[in-house]
Amino acid sequence: MAYSAKENRYDAMKYRRCGRSGLKLPEISLGFWHNFGGTDKYETGCETVLAAFDAGVTHFDLANNYGPPPGSAEITFGRIFKENLLPYRDEIIVSTKAGYDMWQGPYGDFGSRKYLIASLDASLKRMGLDYVDIFYHHRPDPDTPLEETMTALADIVRQGKALYAGISNYNAEQTAQAIPILRSLGVPCLIHQASYSMLNRWIEHGLLDVLEREGAGCICFSPLAQGLLTGRYLDGSVPEGSRASKGVFLKSSSLTPELLRKLNSLNNLAKKSGKTLATLAIQWILRDKRNTSVLIGASSPAQLKENLSALSQPTFSAEELEKIEKILVDG
Ligand SMILES: NC(=O)c1ccc[n+]([C@@H]2O[C@H](COP(=O)([O-])OP(=O)(O)OC[C@H]3O[C@@H](n4cnc5c(N)ncnc54)[C@H](OP(=O)(O)O)[C@@H]3O)[C@@H](O)[C@H]2O)c1
Repeated sequence: MAYSAKENRYDAMKYRRCGRSGLKLPEISLGFWHNFGGTDKYETGCETVLAAFDAGVTHFDLANNYGPPPGSAEITFGRIFKENLLPYRDEIIVSTKAGYDMWQGPYGDFGSRKYLIASLDASLKRMGLDYVDIFYHHRPDPDTPLEETMTALADIVRQGKALYAGISNYNAEQTAQAIPILRSLGVPCLIHQASYSMLNRWIEHGLLDVLEREGAGCICFSPLAQGLLTGRYLDGSVPEGSRASKGVFLKSSSLTPELLRKLNSLNNLAKKSGKTLATLAIQWILRDKRNTSVLIGASSPAQLKENLSALSQPTFSAEELEKIEKILVDG
């Protein structure tokens, strides 16, 4: 049967303004890095995306290289979009990126104008879209002049192939250099996509201050530390099919006794207020208003549902926040 989005899809989700732009993003967004490749089950991915949209998740994040194989997550998105979401295009924020190794030779990686423009054209074809809402430079390039990369982003926006420009994985200093260049070209930097979780707090040491000063938003990726900050690994074992079982991006060797102690302390604290470790971890990111959106991954609709429930649970008391801080700092 043809998909029809739930009438009440905007009732529960909250939206945050992205920096000082006109764009609002959902407090939870869904990423396509894993679970949507050519080797993953299409039906599960499709169900997850439609459940997300039905819950007010308006933002889906992709990149040229997501798969495997690279490019296949964009193909999957294109199919889900064409089969179900076409009537809702104006309600959806799609982002993609270029910056990591995508094709052979000197023009398929990093930050040249040649690479960025060709890559976005290929992404649009794979997704069957005329434009994306946000186009990111995926990682800083130590060799290409920043002016060249930022000019390519600005030109892409002027050409209407993307509505907004963003950067990802730039440190505070690189960000402080890139944003004024974009502004001087008449294209504000909408957003920075950065890793952030209870186990990875680098953005607190400079980046968030730069983004606040410059009026750009922050979308936090790997908020659950790829699954570590969920119930998945609490007893130290690695469930079949989990990301750690694949051993590529998350390795079972990260499950040290020290980390497991910390995760279990956080989980016990979460349980006291009727939360799960995953919902605690998501709420903890949203405690800082400078974080526009929490960019989760989910390998099933059930995981998505659990993660979304973070938004309907009571927020932290000062005392709870202090307890969390103590666990994070002291173990
Ligand atoms: N800009 C960048 O460089 C960059 C880099 C990385 C990611 N990202 C973006 O950020 C998105 C999210 O990254 P991520 O996937 O690492 O995020 P994450 O939310 O930290 O981890 C997601 C994974 O954790 C597990 N999980 C999620 N919810 C769960 C739950 N309730 N219970 C148990 N397990 C659960 C699932 O893995 P399993 O079920 O497979 O174990 C899921 O695929 C990506 O899709 C991408 O869009 C961007």
